[in-house]
Amino acid sequence: MKKIDLRSDTVTVPTQEMREAMVSAEVGDDVYGEDPTVNRLEAVTAEKVGKEAGLFVTSGTQGNLIAILAHCSKGDGAILGMDSHIYNYEGGGIAAIAGVLPLLVDDTGGIMSEDSIKKWCRPHDVHFAPARLLCLENTHNRQGGNAVSPQDFKEVAVAAKEEGLSVHLDGARIFNAAVAWGVDVKEYTSVVDSVQLCLSKGLGAPVGSILCGSAEFIERARHWRKRLGGGMRQAGVIAACGLIAIEKMVNRLEEDHKNAALLAELLEDGGLLVEKPRKRTNMVYFVVKGEENKVKTLADRCAAKGVLFNALSEGRFRLVTHLWIDEKDVKEAAKIIIEEASCC
Ligand SMILES: Cc1ncc(COP(=O)(O)O)c(C=O)c1O
Repeated sequence: MKKIDLRSDTVTVPTQEMREAMVSAEVGDDVYGEDPTVNRLEAVTAEKVGKEAGLFVTSGTQGNLIAILAHCSKGDGAILGMDSHIYNYEGGGIAAIAGVLPLLVDDTGGIMSEDSIKKWCRPHDVHFAPARLLCLENTHNRQGGNAVSPQDFKEVAVAAKEEGLSVHLDGARIFNAAVAWGVDVKEYTSVVDSVQLCLSKGLGAPVGSILCGSAEFIERARHWRKRLGGGMRQAGVIAACGLIAIEKMVNRLEEDHKNAALLAELLEDGGLLVEKPRKRTNMVYFVVKGEENKVKTLADRCAAKGVLFNALSEGRFRLVTHLWIDEKDVKEAAKIIIEEASCC
């Protein structure tokens, strides 16, 4: 039975072109700055997002953590959305390793209000952890994969800078946002100090993220990467896939968005309650109500029929389209999900 794996866009395996690029990649010791493929990937990505420098890191989680460490000192505060990936899904690294206090704000819809940010920017007082950093996320994973518009994004980033904060973008899927709104990615990245973007999600590379920012920021970030054990030596082997991801895979994200829109439409036509983000990208969230036991086992029952997806919380499910999902898969998955959900 063919598996239709809609758990995440992280499940993508490398393309044949990527596998061939790995074999022939020119490599060197990247801790000495001598891996030409890593150096090229960092430079190409930084140029694409309009920053001075880039740093190849092992994962999105590591990129975000390094950004927090490079922007903040122990005891500082970072303003974070309550639904942000950094707060919910990165193992508490912000607390465990950075010693930074999350200052939480409501990010319903994928972005916070300017007022909620300003409330945390309090005058100096020994009682307070000083707010140093704002972390934004776009597209916003837990908020339906919503792509926040360049306009809304910019307003919040500019307001934070006016308050003296640094701004970091968890742009794990920032190219999905840019493609969804039909804008150059710099519409987002030009208004932040640093951005982490994932090569290993919709762009299809097997491993890695790039953290970009000013040359001075990346120098500090490089030091933190080493401290965290993230110096990777002959990493050109995987950076070669990252280059293909960044140079050739961005435009194809549109296909994932089209497939997600079709999936949402089919599920809705089948009577399911489908969430409607303002700008859908490659995710579909749906909610199932019914007998507790049957709702609980929905994902397992679909998996038994070859359709894999995750339950984000009780009765709320997420489907993610990606490189290895086509229109036929979408139709088959919708059919099975509707059948199984109708038994709830
Ligand atoms: C919005 C967001 N940020 C960061 C990450 C972390 O990326 P990684 O899994 O590479 O650590 C993810 C992963 O799904 C994500 O969705």
